Amino acid sequence: MKILAVESSCDETAVAVVEDGRRVLSDKIASQADMHALYGGVVPEIASRKHVEVIAALADEALKEADMARGDIDAVAVTYAPGLIGAVLVGVNFAKAAAYALGVPLIPVHHVRGHIAANYIAFPELEPPFLALAISGGNTLIVDVKDYTDLEVIGATRDDAAGECFDKAARVLGLPYPGGAPMDALAQQGTAGTYDLPRAHVNGSDFDMSFSGLKTAVVNLAHNAAQTGRELDKASLALDFTNAVSDMLVPRAMAAAQQCGRTTVVVAGGVAANSIIRADLQRACREHGYRLYVPPLSLCGDNGAMIGAQGYYEFRAGRRAETDLNAFATLDIAAG
Ligand code: KG4
Repeated sequence: MKILAVESSCDETAVAVVEDGRRVLSDKIASQADMHALYGGVVPEIASRKHVEVIAALADEALKEADMARGDIDAVAVTYAPGLIGAVLVGVNFAKAAAYALGVPLIPVHHVRGHIAANYIAFPELEPPFLALAISGGNTLIVDVKDYTDLEVIGATRDDAAGECFDKAARVLGLPYPGGAPMDALAQQGTAGTYDLPRAHVNGSDFDMSFSGLKTAVVNLAHNAAQTGRELDKASLALDFTNAVSDMLVPRAMAAAQQCGRTTVVVAGGVAANSIIRADLQRACREHGYRLYVPPLSLCGDNGAMIGAQGYYEFRAGRRAETDLNAFATLDIAAG
């Protein structure tokens, strides 16, 4: 079954063709990151307009790369939540029109379910159940993936997402947007333990997380240094910051896997590209005897292939949408 998959929830327009959920026939991405870098973050209105400009041509390119005609498409899958509402709406409307015109089913896909499904593409042997740590620019979730379409949230951030925290911390350190990758590179030159940064604990919850205090601590350190004329050791701050994020994520993921009785841990989302967090997860999983799956960097960020992968399993579970499908800025992954 060949699915045309559409993703437009943030600042990447992406269209892919995926066969039977696991085989990527084409995967086209038009990133707007350079445009938003001018403003230090994503400007929602610009994101929507840029999606409109490129989405149709990108779909044609995806078909061409897959060596397919429009009539070869069996279904259209699309991210319908969560994301920047204007941006998601562009993909949803394009997908609705494409499915209607081609007379094929339309499959709504939860964006974070898609991030997790990126692992089905990278690892053909991977099957639920497993524990997923989904860490992206807009979401930070610990999820028990009981089956392809049966997911339960075990823990979530109460405020900022991990990626958002990376981007804001990077901005005050003078790094370009998106700041995760430059922070990762900078941290390699740092000395651990130079700055004492907070690790939040959410009262009454072992698995929920909070990143806003950490973000504020970095902002305050940078402002104080600027005001007092003291030199900031940016590389060490990047390293201590990353270690603090990792300390909030990794032990919780391990404890959640134990509580859910899972021995496989799967990582997903743009922050999964972080070399320090990857190494910490590898070490922790080895210690606990868990099998760890981390997608290749190319599948960590937003892409259309992951939506095609999850779309296939949603289709098999009977999921369909009609032309009244709406987009949503937020949506529980369990309801997705
Ligand atoms: O998954 P993604 O492309 O978009 C969302 O669905 O939100 O994730 C983007 C996020 C950004 O916040 C970016 O700074 C972060 O992933 N990121 C990283 C790294 N590479 C990308 N964060 C930490 N370390 C990295 N190496």
